[in-house]
Amino acid sequence: MSKLKGNVALVTGGADGIGEASCRALAAEGASVVITDIDLQRSQALAGELGENAMAAELDVRDEAAWSSVLGEVMARYGQLDVLVNNAGGAGAGSIEDISFDDFRESLRLNLDSVFIGCKLAMELMKGRGGSIINVSSIHGIRAAAHAASYSAAKGGVRLLTKSVALQCAQQGYGIRCNSMHPGYILTTQMEDWVAKQDDPDAMMAGLVAQHPIGFLGQPTDIAAGIVFLASDDSRFMTGAELVMDGGFTLV
Ligand SMILES: NC(=O)c1ccc[n+]([C@@H]2O[C@H](COP(=O)([O-])OP(=O)(O)OC[C@H]3O[C@@H](n4cnc5c(N)ncnc54)[C@H](O)[C@@H]3O)[C@@H](O)[C@H]2O)c1
Repeated sequence: MSKLKGNVALVTGGADGIGEASCRALAAEGASVVITDIDLQRSQALAGELGENAMAAELDVRDEAAWSSVLGEVMARYGQLDVLVNNAGGAGAGSIEDISFDDFRESLRLNLDSVFIGCKLAMELMKGRGGSIINVSSIHGIRAAAHAASYSAAKGGVRLLTKSVALQCAQQGYGIRCNSMHPGYILTTQMEDWVAKQDDPDAMMAGLVAQHPIGFLGQPTDIAAGIVFLASDDSRFMTGAELVMDGGFTLV
């Protein structure tokens, strides 16, 4: 399988969960993968496993200077960037009554500001040559959750920022596509650990499953398959679109 042979793909938050599965899937399709994360050790372990076409770099997505430095390393090593997966994110629990303005801003920094920085800097490198930017939003970027005010705001922002970037790139003829990915609840290690810590894990899991009409929760590999689709020419006529992979969560 080599849909992405000759492509260089950078994934943020690539050491665990959906990001890790995406790195594995992109590499399996022949891409050279730049695994970035705040957890350098884990990224290096994954890069070691994926072989010579993978590199690891420490990147806190909230830090614009760190972005510039990592992208500099990528250009020095590969001379190109074809795919950016803005995946890192999370944290944003609490209703508007539960959280402070500082909490709100911190969640926006992680989930939305980071995507702005990534898109802006990657566009500079992709202009003319073309590329695909994939921004990982959420079902809560489409349907708000009262218990996650800042997360809903940030992920909704990612959804429309994606469309704005897509339009700008299309209208300027840059050859860059930009799409958003909207996963339902996905069984990552972190998520399984969180459920296990609840008072009644079985009831919690049943409650989550019940929100997905398809009757089960997704795996990181389900989302990674969508990421590969958005990265490759199979989706060449898609830009500014939402790929919703949620077992029907947003239908009800
Ligand atoms: N898991 C789900 O159910 C689900 C559902 C919808 C959307 N999402 C979104 O998918 C994306 C990935 O989520 P996940 O569940 O796979 O996460 P995860 O918690 O399993 O992994 C996140 C990774 O990001 C890294 N990370 C954390 N903060 C970072 C930072 N500031 N800079 C760089 N890396 C950082 C972590 O070290 C970790 O390796 C997130 O944007 C999340 O909001 C997840």
